[in-house]
Amino acid sequence: MLDDLESILVTEQEIRERIEILGREISDTYHDIDELTVIAIINGALLFTADLIRHINLPIRIDCMRVSSYKDDTSPIQEPEIIDMLRLNLEGQHVLIIDDILDTGHTSARVINEIRKLKPASVRFGVLLEKEGRREVDLAPDFVGFHIPDQFVVGYGLDFAERYRQLPCIGVLKPALQNPPSWI
Ligand code: IMP
Ligand code: MG
Repeated sequence: MLDDLESILVTEQEIRERIEILGREISDTYHDIDELTVIAIINGALLFTADLIRHINLPIRIDCMRVSSYKDDTSPIQEPEIIDMLRLNLEGQHVLIIDDILDTGHTSARVINEIRKLKPASVRFGVLLEKEGRREVDLAPDFVGFHIPDQFVVGYGLDFAERYRQLPCIGVLKPALQNPPSWI
């Protein structure tokens, strides 16, 4: 599967090292609270969340939200759709939302908006990747793994048509593989 990548932007080791640092930053930020509620935006944040929480030194509750903002190609549809909502009660809770990538910002803005309605004590937002020069919504993440250029990437949770999520690194898919007719 690595052969399908044109280039690797972030290696497995770089991800591992950065996540350890982020885990410490998050633990420090929340050092005085009893419990943190981590919300993973799936499927993209699955791998990142699983690795990150092992470096957060606090009691944690976990829930997931499923949001769809992309069809099976590389261009976004406008309004993100919440397909599966949370199970936990967030009222009075400290909430950390984890997403895979901040691109235009529409998906994350929608999620944050919905979560604020549930009256949490605080809401913060962490992303593995932040794409430069793409923001259409004014949104600044509290925790960022890596800043990347405006290219379509896959791996470590990020997909193209639900493929490539299991790659241990993050890379750019070869252009010839981005719209194979058999997948549409
Ligand atoms: P936004 O709403 O434009 O910020 O898009 C965010 C969502 O689009 C992410 O959670 C991803 O699921 C998807 N996405 C954006 N850029 C990429 C990419 O380069 N590769 C894979 N998925 C992406
Ligand atoms: Mg996706």
